[in-house]
Amino acid sequence: MDHFSSRHDGLYAEDVPLRRIADAVGTPLYIYSAATLRRHYDILADEFKNRDALIAFAVKALSNIAVLALLGRRGAGADIVSGGELYRALKAGIPAERVVFSGVAKSRGEMEAALNAGILQFNVESEAELAHLSAVASALGKTAPVALRVNPDVDAGTDTRISTGRKDDKFGVPFADAGRLYRLAAALPGLRPQGLTVHIGSQITSVAPFERAAARVGGLVTSLRAEGHEVTHLDLGGGLGIPYERAAAAPPLPVDYAATLNRATADLNVRLILEPGRLIAGNAGLFVTRIVLTKNQEGTHYALVDGAMNDLIRPALYGARHEVMEDTPPTGVPVHHHIAGPVCESTDLFAKDVPLHEVSAGALLAFRTAGAYGAVQASQYNTRPLVPEVLVDGDRFTVIRRRPTYEEMLSLEVIPDDF
Ligand code: LLP
Repeated sequence: MDHFSSRHDGLYAEDVPLRRIADAVGTPLYIYSAATLRRHYDILADEFKNRDALIAFAVKALSNIAVLALLGRRGAGADIVSGGELYRALKAGIPAERVVFSGVAKSRGEMEAALNAGILQFNVESEAELAHLSAVASALGKTAPVALRVNPDVDAGTDTRISTGRKDDKFGVPFADAGRLYRLAAALPGLRPQGLTVHIGSQITSVAPFERAAARVGGLVTSLRAEGHEVTHLDLGGGLGIPYERAAAAPPLPVDYAATLNRATADLNVRLILEPGRLIAGNAGLFVTRIVLTKNQEGTHYALVDGAMNDLIRPALYGARHEVMEDTPPTGVPVHHHIAGPVCESTDLFAKDVPLHEVSAGALLAFRTAGAYGAVQASQYNTRPLVPEVLVDGDRFTVIRRRPTYEEMLSLEVIPDDF
């Protein structure tokens, strides 16, 4: 459910016509709905309101500080994977005590920054990382709160490019080593093991893998406690899928997912942490582009638009399908078009055979479900300016990241003297 709609006079983001935003800001651009972000966060948070639980938004999904601030004010924490994301989360006002730090190869500098900030938890993914964090924390005279990321060897049934919980994926420590490494963490200076974490993949469309992973890691909590260890935190990661295409089978509802996790962990007496990204941000964003021209290529109709794969790379990278909405209210017989961008690559193709009613230059098209892993994966390939972001809230909108000028884009580059 989102707050984008098609009305008699065109597409709206909440109460603002898309056309008004596109005219003011230019295209391509991302548009987010504050009401949708709030709604998605609140639905999940509500399911855990009687638990000691933290919803740590996966910053990588949509990292604009306006969005982080909006979620942080509602109580969200942040799941970060870099020093840059730590900087963003703190800048957005998310307290360090609500920050968990994931990632397989944190650098010394990143560890130091997180230790100095006083984050809630380092999610540690290997024996080598335990040793590294121990050394860095000891040198600073600090103690790092640690959760061991275990690989539960659960196949989440999602695309292999975004699966993380099978035993040969690069993430986490093997399940069989978890006991030994928890003991090691307890023995090493500068570390305080406080829990376990799992994350089995992204865009997962059934609750069964979550249930299996929670059961496996829950068993580990019990056995570690039997050995005398303290296990106070359990982080079950993110990964619930969302509907990208109306025709596709609907993923589980957030409430069913939450009920499953609640059931699986009810008796564990732990502080529960979740790291949802896509679930909160995905349907809260549109990628909006304008048709530049049309072209008939040996019988294939192309609508060539001003947005490109550097702005929204998911179709090129994962074969992802984002539903297209036309701004012009549909009348007459549609003509099927491939929608492609101006970048010089054949994979700069957003969608094939889309029935379009209005294909004149300047017509706006909006790709749905672009809030998560959209703007954050944009680049300046082909020296195209980084795509701007706009946040709509009711009847007003704010440009929360403006389009850089060419001068700004080149400002970090230098031509050496005398060469
Ligand atoms: N926690 C960890 C440790 C993760 O690695 C991820 C995502 C999340 C949480 C959030 O997962 P979510 O709830 O959003 O599924 N670029 C890809 C998705 C990559 C996901 C990476 N990890 C895409 O566009 O589909």
